Amino acid sequence: MYYNEDIVEEVRVRNDIVDIISGYVSLKKKGASYFGLCPFHNEKSPSFSVSRDKQMYYCFGCGAGGNVFTFIMEYENFTFPETLKMLAERAGMELPEAELSKEEKRASDYKTMLREMNRQAANYFYLLLHSERGKNAYDYLTDRGITKETIKKFGLGYADIYSDDLYQYLKSKGYTDSQLKDSGLVTIDEKRGGSDKFWNRVMFPILDVNSKVIGFGGRVMGDGNPKYLNSKETAVFDKSRNLFGLHIARTSRKPYFIVCEGYMDVISMHQAGFINTVASLGTAFTPFHGTLLKRYTKEVILSYDSDEAGTKAALRAIPILKESGLVVRVLNLKPYKDPDEFIKALGAEALEERIKEAISSFMFEIAVLKQQYNENDPESWTMFAHELAKKLSTISERLERQNYIEACARTYHMGVKDLEELVNRYGMTMYRTKEQGENEREKKSEKEKKDDGYRQSQRLLLTWMVNEPRLFEQLKGIISADDFIEPSYHSVAKMLFEEYEQEHKVTPAKILNQFTEVEEHNQVAVIFNTTLKMAPSPEDNEKALTDVVRRVKEYHINYDMEHSNDIGMWQKLIKEKAELQKLYVSLHFS
Ligand code: GTP
Ligand code: MN
Repeated sequence: MYYNEDIVEEVRVRNDIVDIISGYVSLKKKGASYFGLCPFHNEKSPSFSVSRDKQMYYCFGCGAGGNVFTFIMEYENFTFPETLKMLAERAGMELPEAELSKEEKRASDYKTMLREMNRQAANYFYLLLHSERGKNAYDYLTDRGITKETIKKFGLGYADIYSDDLYQYLKSKGYTDSQLKDSGLVTIDEKRGGSDKFWNRVMFPILDVNSKVIGFGGRVMGDGNPKYLNSKETAVFDKSRNLFGLHIARTSRKPYFIVCEGYMDVISMHQAGFINTVASLGTAFTPFHGTLLKRYTKEVILSYDSDEAGTKAALRAIPILKESGLVVRVLNLKPYKDPDEFIKALGAEALEERIKEAISSFMFEIAVLKQQYNENDPESWTMFAHELAKKLSTISERLERQNYIEACARTYHMGVKDLEELVNRYGMTMYRTKEQGENEREKKSEKEKKDDGYRQSQRLLLTWMVNEPRLFEQLKGIISADDFIEPSYHSVAKMLFEEYEQEHKVTPAKILNQFTEVEEHNQVAVIFNTTLKMAPSPEDNEKALTDVVRRVKEYHINYDMEHSNDIGMWQKLIKEKAELQKLYVSLHFS
């Protein structure tokens, strides 16, 4: 972890969860908790609860939950350090610098300087666009249907006709020639001095995920070559790791992202309400882009130009995106060239329809393949059928393969049986080994099911203990943190036992500080937010508790047996197991 626990805890305590979440969700007080519509899933009646006492939130509908850090990580899609920084700033706290070496510190300061310079340049371009000198550029943008609000939202600007306009401006702000050179915004010539990279262009600032300007794209107005000029890569501008529009798309909370080719496409899409749209920076898609997107979404809809170049680019992007674990679908924009033109011609609703109709990347690849063959020529069509079968045979999951066989047979007017047979011919050896593997996996899952039961007992017991901390006394000598085998429960249990030992109370939200992944927070939040239904009679409750304790102990013993070869140890464990039957946990508190 980056920061020490005391600081993390102080940041948490200084940001009241009800205050923070109220900034995002409208909350109403109901009993001891606040309720609102869950921002993490679609719902009509509020099942999202926030507790000021516990300083935690929990959604009874979708199971999202955690403390104030979890909420910001989930809502803003921030990492833990980003979240900590934001909440510290909000509370007016200064975080101590993470421990950097001198060299790292220098590099980090240098990057901060470059980002700041880019920001100043963006401001300057923006002012120019709105001045008399930028009138042509302003008209160009509005003629293309871009509104004043969109210009503001994207911070669009104008680079003037003079060859050293920006250079002079940034010099006046105190930057040295060497700094200016490294920003990529100007070139420095020994004889002629500095000159700007961008002349007489409409400027599109490129922002990183944290909304810091890191570079620019500049477009000629009208025809001209090159149409777009992009900042060269610098210490802060890496084209393979950034996407245009991501700083906004990141917060869109849509189930999928739309990826298109151009800056103008992104801008039109956002203006039409599709704020979950991004584009790469005039370069091909990289695996970094794939993982970057995977941080924010599970599904990508490719919305590339409908010409040959666009199709080729889509075919190259598909495997990269799938490799990152994303589901990919492809949008058909025909007869229009790109999303910008489509929206201008048919509007947002029509585009929404096309999104619904977007086909899977597999069907898209087949559709492109088909273009090389002729349906009316039996020889050519047979060849297509073979290629198609070959591709279908690579789908490893049986049900999925079958579904695609049927879909292709329908689309390309082939007999399902014929296609199936062909697919089997290509896939024979492959499936046999695959299916054996599947059987083994099924067998294993029996054991997994049993483990799930034990895991559930561990969770139930922890929940019970959190709800009734007196149980810590009651279970002394019977249950310890080590009885919670499941790694995430084990660490929670350890913290709970320690806190109870020292302070005779438990603070759920503080315990969450120890976890940095949203999934972990959700898991832990379940422990703290489940209300247990108590049995009507105390005896029944005791029985239930005894049962849970027994299961937890039993699992611990089984686990130790599985992990030990020592006969003496085994005998001891077998004895312990037998004694478990005699165990009875009394709930009579003295
Ligand atoms: P408009 O023609 O203004 O609608 O732009 P567009 O966004 O539709 O761009 P287009 O489809 O022509 O190109 C897609 C992307 O490729 C652009 O956004 C740029 O990032 C990049 N690009 C296009 N032309 C050039 C060029 O001449 N040079 C460079 N380096 N990149 C370009
Ligand atoms: Mn275009």
